[in-house]
Amino acid sequence: MANQLCIVLDFGGQYNQLIARRVRECGVYCEIRRYDTPLSEIRALNPTGIIFTGGPNSVYDSASPHIAKEYFDLGIPTLGICYGCQLMAYTLGGTVESCERSEYGKIDVTRTDETSVLFSDVPAESTVWMSHTDFVSRVPEGFHVTAHSADCPCAAFEYPERKFYAVQFHPEVTHSVFGKQILRNFLFNVCGFTGDWVMDDFIANTVEQLRTQIGDKKVILGLSGGVDSSVAAALLSRAVGKQLTCVFVDHGLMRKDEGDFVEDTFTKLFDMQFIRVNCQAHFLDQLRGVTDPEQKRKIIGTEFYNVFWGKIRETGTDGYFAQGTIYPDRIESGKGNQAGAGSTDVIKTHHNMVSMPEDIKFAGTIEPLKDLFKDEVRAVGEKLGIPRELVWRQPFPGPGLGVRIIGEITEEKIRILQEADAVFRDEIEKSGVESELRQYFAVLPDVRTVGVMGDHRTYDHLIAIRAVTTDDFMTADWARIPYEVLARVSNRLCNEVAHVNRVVYDITSKPPGTVEWE
Ligand code: XMP
Repeated sequence: MANQLCIVLDFGGQYNQLIARRVRECGVYCEIRRYDTPLSEIRALNPTGIIFTGGPNSVYDSASPHIAKEYFDLGIPTLGICYGCQLMAYTLGGTVESCERSEYGKIDVTRTDETSVLFSDVPAESTVWMSHTDFVSRVPEGFHVTAHSADCPCAAFEYPERKFYAVQFHPEVTHSVFGKQILRNFLFNVCGFTGDWVMDDFIANTVEQLRTQIGDKKVILGLSGGVDSSVAAALLSRAVGKQLTCVFVDHGLMRKDEGDFVEDTFTKLFDMQFIRVNCQAHFLDQLRGVTDPEQKRKIIGTEFYNVFWGKIRETGTDGYFAQGTIYPDRIESGKGNQAGAGSTDVIKTHHNMVSMPEDIKFAGTIEPLKDLFKDEVRAVGEKLGIPRELVWRQPFPGPGLGVRIIGEITEEKIRILQEADAVFRDEIEKSGVESELRQYFAVLPDVRTVGVMGDHRTYDHLIAIRAVTTDDFMTADWARIPYEVLARVSNRLCNEVAHVNRVVYDITSKPPGTVEWE
């Protein structure tokens, strides 16, 4: 994929993917590998540099992830971070002890070696992010200390002749003010990376590989209209054109005009065979009278599965099956294992992961985005000419508007919600607050209220609007949208959407709420 490879050796820390992203932001191709990857495999990969990640363990615990001492004879420039730093010290004969006081948060460190290449262009005092209970109290033979903090005597140490470097803090998090500079120093000044890995290379190489692998066979891809499957479709289209068939199941629970937009985009801008399965009526039939949220999700999931695989059987399975799996989908983060675990037995649809029916057999599975992070997938999508609204699409649940219509789902309720959601999104986009929000949408609770319009009393629907800010969707806060924007949204919803006469703004954070209402 790239001429030079950096390996992030995963010891179970929470920031492992972040380290890999930071490295790639420096134009260096990087992959995460398990800590127990055999040394022979590491040698065969011929990495230009390796980074040991942090991790929650203590090096003295025999159950903790360790590394063979022989690793250090491979001659690969290595940077140890946090647990990785302690492991380097411990394995090479230094001493690791428990702190009297854990260091957590922003800490000032002081450089003690003017000549350290790792700290080039880093001030004598700088703030870093620490999170540790153990610390290195004595560095191994050949190493010397290059930085300390008030409570940590060996905040950084190195053996420059052997290109071994270690930092107790986390340079990958933005709270470490010069963290990126430290990573750059390691990559460019210690390892000698050239930093010329760009998305254009990725596209050219991947297209070439796909052509070789696919030959004159066919490829089928399930297209949801989400970012990942759309970018996978565009990439495969560039590689093999009409040999690619995209199957797009429209269950009728998409946002306003979304089904048509997806069809237009892929039939007009890309060369491929495109099958749209229109099964809105079928889904409505199956959902009639159902009000329980779990039951609704289950029906939508099962029906999607049946319709999708039914269409695949019809279309034929002589060739490859492709899917838009991306790197974070493959990494079970935080456990220091499973990195890069095989993903071909789970299929990514816009309903999360489901397995392929046993009777369906393809020549193989193709996952052209399997090594990319989300922001890289978006960059590839833009370069391939996918419209911005698709590339920058906000997350959308697999069951679609089905989880935003409370109570029974009917055609009329879908229409009201689609209209209301379109008005809300339009107003947010016009108001300039969009970039601060990670997700925003309308919800149709099963509530009707009394209102007045002209001389008439009305008894119509309530619309709830939801907008959240979040880093990772595990927790979220409701967005402080300016009152003027909320006022315009409320006006427009009541005036423009038939059968809406009241609007409320959801001011619940997650927890205790979830982002979606069902
Ligand atoms: P919650 O509601 O769990 O949502 O706080 C967190 C994020 O996940 C999205 N979401 C889903 N995505 N299938 C999906 O692919 C689903 O069933 C699903 N349910 C929720 C939600 O939109 C938010 O971004």
